[in-house]
Amino acid sequence: MYKLRELEKKDLFTINQWRNDPELISKLGTPFRFINLNVDEKWFDGYMQNRNSQVRCAIVECGNDDIIGLASLVSIDYMNQSAEFHIMIGNKNNQGRGAGTFAVSAMLYHAFYNLNLQRVELMVLEDNITARSLYEKVGFVHEGTKRNARYKNGKFVNMLMYSILKDEYMIKHTRADNDII
Ligand SMILES: CC(C)(COP(=O)(O)OP(=O)(O)OC[C@H]1O[C@@H](n2cnc3c(N)ncnc32)[C@H](O)[C@@H]1OP(=O)(O)O)[C@@H](O)C(=O)NCCC(=O)NCCS
Repeated sequence: MYKLRELEKKDLFTINQWRNDPELISKLGTPFRFINLNVDEKWFDGYMQNRNSQVRCAIVECGNDDIIGLASLVSIDYMNQSAEFHIMIGNKNNQGRGAGTFAVSAMLYHAFYNLNLQRVELMVLEDNITARSLYEKVGFVHEGTKRNARYKNGKFVNMLMYSILKDEYMIKHTRADNDII
């Protein structure tokens, strides 16, 4: 069983290791670059000052507070009631064990039932089949393709945009699903 808690300063050392892992970063839209711990500490301070437009959570196992992944709602826009979703499970050993499914479902519940949002969107690399399968499983809809939008590992690749609306989430997820959240 997994749970979410808000990101804390103590998580930064682990997150910094993830952000310096070329294999992990190759799955994300952001380019790889070397990032020292000071940069991540400043990034965290920036988050603390902008908590009204971002929710950044650590994914942890129940009974163990060590961070295994990061799930975030960013660019929260209360007028349009929308936000962007980001996720990563940092260590390969923790992938493929259900943490991603839990975190996406829990963050969507938070977005729609606590933050009063009506749309959550995300961007994913076209060749990230694992992430796309997860998003489609929980009800995200492919809205469009940004062609050659990112330079990754020496070539330009497409980015896909997905979104889910509150109505779609409610139809797809029964109350029983949400009882674990
Ligand atoms: C993508 C990611 C968030 C998925 O989380 P996870 O905990 O590994 O995934 P889960 O165990 O919850 O599995 C979720 C679904 O992903 C799909 N999936 C998992 N492993 C897969 C694989 N090897 N190949 C294809 N699909 C796969 C399946 O649809 C699975 O659902 P199912 O078990 O009901 O069949 C995680 O692997 C990760 O962080 N990867 C690296 C970073 C990344 O890609 N982030 C997303 C950027 S948009």
